[in-house]
Amino acid sequence: MSPDRKPDKTTDPGRIWVQTGVPQFKDFDRWQQVGPEEAGMVSEMTLRNELSGGTPVVREFEKEWREWIGGKYSLSVMNGSSALYSAYFGVGVGPGDEVICPTYTWICTIAPATLLGARPVFAESNPETLLVDPDDVRRRITNKTRAIVVVHLWGFVADMDGFLKLSRDTGIPIIEDCSHVHGGKYKGQMCGNLGAAGCWSFQGSKPVSGGEAGIMVTNDQEIFERACLLGQVNRIAGVDLVTERYAKYQPLGVGMKFRSHPLGIGLAKVQFGKLDALNARRRKYVETIEAGLESIPGLHPVKQYPGAERAGFYGFPIHHVPEETPGLSTKQLIEKIQAEGIPATADPYGLLHLLPIYAEGFDLFTRNRGPLCGDYPGYRPGDFPQTEQMRDRLIFLPMCSDPVPGAEDFVLKRLSRSVA
Ligand SMILES: Cc1ncc(COP(=O)(O)O)c(C=O)c1O
Repeated sequence: MSPDRKPDKTTDPGRIWVQTGVPQFKDFDRWQQVGPEEAGMVSEMTLRNELSGGTPVVREFEKEWREWIGGKYSLSVMNGSSALYSAYFGVGVGPGDEVICPTYTWICTIAPATLLGARPVFAESNPETLLVDPDDVRRRITNKTRAIVVVHLWGFVADMDGFLKLSRDTGIPIIEDCSHVHGGKYKGQMCGNLGAAGCWSFQGSKPVSGGEAGIMVTNDQEIFERACLLGQVNRIAGVDLVTERYAKYQPLGVGMKFRSHPLGIGLAKVQFGKLDALNARRRKYVETIEAGLESIPGLHPVKQYPGAERAGFYGFPIHHVPEETPGLSTKQLIEKIQAEGIPATADPYGLLHLLPIYAEGFDLFTRNRGPLCGDYPGYRPGDFPQTEQMRDRLIFLPMCSDPVPGAEDFVLKRLSRSVA
């Protein structure tokens, strides 16, 4: 660039959001998410012209993933949001319905349901586990509730006994948002195969990354076929849609395309092969630090449900109890930890009910139509006191995916100094 040319803010590499997983803890993490194997896969697929539709790699990956999860049907899509869109459409979410969703999650968990015309109904999370609370969800069920979405946030596994009982009692399907929990289990069963449908994101920074990609798994043929109808135009003729009910709509379905880019799936396929090792390294790092917190006042690991086996480790939150560190608020403590050389942060997500779109409502379809206007009640601060307090007291430690020897010890020593 000539010296007199100003940097273009859309192409200046310093400003572009880096979407692939990069070490959060520089100098302590040797991990590189993508390397020659991924590049090789992309190059081979490109040279074979495997660039569109349900290519051999796409179908192989769908099979590998569903067999690993233990589900009957799998459908790769362009991202986790469209996996959720497919699942909501699959269970028949539509205008006038309500979908119950934790307020503590990423917006894409619920946005697809809203775009299908359903109203989000937010719920509290358990302050010890950070995960949506089945008892609170039960209280929010109405005769309009069409689905409940459970999120295994940050790789922690939700109280699936509670949710499956709720589903049996009410007939309301549970959709599992597994975007953060690649490989988690509940009482020996894979997450994503417990409810009506499981949805995964393979977005850049996820444990299995395709840059951008996603997948939905279900045991329910109706859900699968509706998902095919929704977003797989022209891909599935004579292959996936098998029942009389929908056969006449193939191959065009409803004419939308949410299908995956084969190169994204090729990347995810390579990354899938590395997942067990990644989970093992992250687990060791996280569990070593959590065990060490026992001797540090005011800092506590996030609790897990009996029978839950977390995975993915998409974030590393711990609780701060300010009452145990007199004179030190969570914000001040985070600053002290940062000053000690540990790139800790506050919660990066926020709560959905406080976003303007959900707090104030939004004329989604214009002319005062859609689920977020009319009699939409909106939300305000204080509506979810337990989740709000919990969220404000979280500290996120840097994840290490391939820590250098002694990284855990370094973190623990610096945390001890920070609370002193
Ligand atoms: C909990 C959760 N759900 C859904 C999504 C949506 O996935 P995608 O970004 O692949 O559309 C994400 C993405 O970060 C997520 O974190």
